[in-house]
Amino acid sequence: MQVVNTIMELQALLDEARLNKEKIGFVPTMGALHQGHLSLVSEASKNSSVVVVSIFVNPTQFNNTNDLKRYPRDLQTDLDALSTVKCDVVFAPEVDEVYPETDTREFNFGALETVMEGKYRPGHFNGVAQVVSRLFDMVRPDKAFFGLKDFQQLAIIRAMTKQLQLPVEIVPCDTVREKDDLAMSSRNMLLSTMHRKNAPVIARTLFESCNFVANKSVEETKESVINAINATQGLEVEYFEIVDGYTLQPVDNWNDSDYIVGCIAVFADEVRLIDNVTYKK
Ligand code: PAF
Repeated sequence: MQVVNTIMELQALLDEARLNKEKIGFVPTMGALHQGHLSLVSEASKNSSVVVVSIFVNPTQFNNTNDLKRYPRDLQTDLDALSTVKCDVVFAPEVDEVYPETDTREFNFGALETVMEGKYRPGHFNGVAQVVSRLFDMVRPDKAFFGLKDFQQLAIIRAMTKQLQLPVEIVPCDTVREKDDLAMSSRNMLLSTMHRKNAPVIARTLFESCNFVANKSVEETKESVINAINATQGLEVEYFEIVDGYTLQPVDNWNDSDYIVGCIAVFADEVRLIDNVTYKK
C-alpha cells in the first residue's frame, strides 16, 4: 500500500497503472474508517485491479464549523485499518492541495438538493460535488464506490457525474450495520454511552415500519416512526421523509412510485445520525 499526499505523486502512480491497462477503483472517504468503508474497499477490489482510497476531511461540505472541528481524524489508525484489506494507494492530501484557491463553483441539482439533507444542511451537497468532482479529476477512476447509507449523496453524485459527463461508473454499496443494527458511521464514535445504547432504535424502527406498507398510510407511517424515535431517551428526529427513490420527492401514497425509500436524520445529543430503509423496489 502506497501513501501519497500530492497530486503529482498520485498521478505518477496512476499513470503507470493506466499504461498497464489496470482498471482503477476509487473509494473517497473522510477518514475515521470503519467496517462500512472497508466493505467499500473490498467491493472496489473485486471490481478493479488498482484500488485507491482518499482520506480528506472536506471543509466545503460542512455547514457547521463545530461539526468540522469535531470530525474525528486519525490517519495512522485509518492506514492500519486499510492494511487489513486490499488497498493499493492511499491519497491523503492537505486542504491546499485540493483547494489551491477557493472553489467558487455552484452546482444546480434542482429538486434533488432542496429536500432532506439539502434542506437541513444548506450548501452541503455543493461542497460534496466540489470535492468529489476534484477527486475524480485527480484519480480518474473507472469506478467509484459509495455507500447507500448516504442515499441522497449517492443521487447527487450520480447527477454531478452526468452533468459533468465524467467517464466514471458510480457503484452503490449496501449499508453496513453494527450487530445491534445501528448503521455504521464515523460519527458513532462521538456518541455517549447512553446515546450509543439507544441509537439502534433508529434502524429498528425503520425496519419495523416496513410492515406498515400493508396497513398504514404514508402519513401514518411517518407519524409512527417519528413518535417512536422521539419517545426514546436522547433521540430527536430532525426529519423523516418517505420519498421516491429516484427523484427524492415525497410520496403521498404507497402506489405513487415503484421505488420508495424512507430517509431519516436524528440528533443523538449533538451527533447527527442518518439512515434509510427501502419500502419498495
Ligand atoms: O461520504 C463521505 O464520506 C463524503 O461526503 C465524501 C463522499 C468522501 C466527500 O467528502
